[in-house]
Amino acid sequence: MAYQPHYFKEVRNAQANSYSPYSNFKVGAYLRTKDGKVYHGANVENAAYSMAICAERSSLVAAISDGYKPGDFESITVTVDADAPSSPCGECRQVLKELCDDDMPVYMTNHKGDMIESTVKDLLPLGFSGKDLN
Ligand code: THU
Repeated sequence: MAYQPHYFKEVRNAQANSYSPYSNFKVGAYLRTKDGKVYHGANVENAAYSMAICAERSSLVAAISDGYKPGDFESITVTVDADAPSSPCGECRQVLKELCDDDMPVYMTNHKGDMIESTVKDLLPLGFSGKDLN
């Protein structure tokens, strides 16, 4: 489904739950399933910095934990407070590749409402996947 204005409100609400006392960089994610369910994610940091969990993965892990399967997702919207929308980190791109269709839209936004649209495949061209293990 094409980007809808209410995705922005949803993802900004998700971002409000960010636990990011170390970076002060709040990230929100709004994941939609093909059957109409939605999951919100936020980044969750730790005093052991490397344990930070990104907003994108928070939302995907919540959905999978609830019983959704790879390929069940329609879109993900991400938001940050920065001059330009930022795009998912490399680790999140790999997880998106594992769990989402190659052509699934990824909508990247910022606090100003700027939006950049991409897809899972465009964010991770030539990515490694289970097929490579054969
Ligand atoms: N972060 C995300 O939540 N998503 C990304 O794709 C990039 C980075 C978080 C991790 C950390 O809590 C903070 O942003 C600064 O890197």
